[in-house]
Order: sequence, then C-alpha cells, then structure tokens
Amino acid sequence: MMKFYNFTLYFCILLLLSKFMIANNKNINNNMFKLPQFKLKGNISIEEAIDRRRSIRDYLDQPLKIEDVSQLLWAGQGISDPTNKFRTAPSAGALYPIKLYICVGNVSNLPNGLYYYQNSNHSIIMLTNIDIRKNIWEVSLWQNSIIKAPIVIIITAIFDITKRKYGERASQYVYIEAGHIAQNILLQAYALGLGGVPIGAFYDDGIKNVLKIPKDETPIYIIPIGKKK
Ligand SMILES: Cc1cc2nc3c(=O)[nH]c(=O)nc-3n(C[C@H](O)[C@H](O)[C@H](O)COP(=O)(O)O)c2cc1C
Repeated sequence: MMKFYNFTLYFCILLLLSKFMIANNKNINNNMFKLPQFKLKGNISIEEAIDRRRSIRDYLDQPLKIEDVSQLLWAGQGISDPTNKFRTAPSAGALYPIKLYICVGNVSNLPNGLYYYQNSNHSIIMLTNIDIRKNIWEVSLWQNSIIKAPIVIIITAIFDITKRKYGERASQYVYIEAGHIAQNILLQAYALGLGGVPIGAFYDDGIKNVLKIPKDETPIYIIPIGKKK
C-alpha cells in the first residue's frame, strides 16, 4: 500500500514539474524566443514623444514586460514592409548593416542573458544565459545607468556591408543609420512610459570582448532602458 502511495506521489510531482517547465518555455525553442506581436497604436502622439523625450539614467527597480521588449526592438529594426523587407529605420541602399543585441537583467517571463534580435520572424535568440550588464558597465566608464537598467540594447554594425557599395562614404552612412535606429528606440521608450539614454562612451574592444561578436562587427551605441523614476 505504502509503495502505491509513494508511486502516486512521485507521479504527481513529475506531472507538476513538467507542466511548470512547459508553461515557462512555451515560447522558447532552440534558444529562440518568439516575441509578442508589436502594436501600431499607442497612448501618446509622435509629437508628444519628440517634445517630452529626455535622456533618463535612473530607473525604478521593476521588471519590464516582454511586450515592451517586443515594441522597442521592432521600433529599432523591425520589418515594416515584408514584401521588400524594408525596416522601421532607413538604411543607405537598403543594405542594413546594423544589428541589435539586448542584455536582459529584469524582464517578466524572460530569462536573463544576452540575446540577438532576429527581425525576420520578430524573435530573439539567446546567446548566453548570463546577465552581462556588469561586464558592459566595466567597459563603459562605469556608467551606472547600465547597471540600473532592466534591459540594455546594444547597436553594432558591420561596416563592410555598406562599404562594398559606397566605399569611403560608408562609415558616415552607418553612423547616421545608428542614429535613426537609436532615436526610434528612445521615442518608443518614451511612448511606453519608459526612459533611456544613448551611450557613446565605451571601449570598443571591451564591448567586443564582452559580447563576443565577430571581428568585423563594431559596437556603436549602448541604450539602457527602464521605468522612469
Ligand atoms: C553620440 C552621443 C553620445 C552620448 N553618450 C552618452 C554617454 O556616454 N553617457 C550618457 O549618460 N549620455 C550620453 N549621451 C546623452 C547626452 O548626454 C544627452 O543627450 C544630452 O545631455 C542632452 O540631454 P537630453 O538627451 O535629455 O536632451 C550621448 C548622446 C549622444 C548623441
């Protein structure tokens, strides 16, 4: 009789555990996390976002929602014209040399770690499950906004993609594009009731090492984002 009870107990625990694991990983497949659908309507106007935007460096110690992550990455590099594969931000020759990474430190229902934004299916790919905000902070002049933010978006570029067509002019074009993307993200952050700051002061090689990005990829901007204090 005792054996029967033990068996039933183990069975129930196993069932509960498997249900819990499935519930928490229903969107994760091969380290890919499908982001929720972005919205095309918000609560405030573009004019208000432009007028009210400020660089925010201090954040509430509260998690962001996965919907916020979805909206911010879409604003930066989402595909807005699936036929032509055009994106939310302009790109010289539609060559798209920019990549977006997101370091997650406090987002509800999303494991901490470093992810790469894959706009083809609006998903993020986990590169490591280690929260590397402290490592980013150490190579960015110890700017505390990076440590305090629940997420940090990193903009990198492969200059060669644009150089092949535009030669020496490419470097201007790529930096201009990063500016377009950063502004989209920052205005979207404001519209979501969040705040962020564009950070240009960091050691390129330091960020390359921390992110473990290929040699031909250059970090351009770091954008910590969180709930405004
Ligand atoms: C290219 C660039 C680099 C920046 N780098 C940093 C930085 O490393 N750290 C920081 O706290 N703010 C940085 N900022 C934000 C500026 O300090 C900020 O935009 C400026 O003080 C004006 O404030 P506002 O953005 O609220 O209008 C940078 C801004 C730009 C455009």
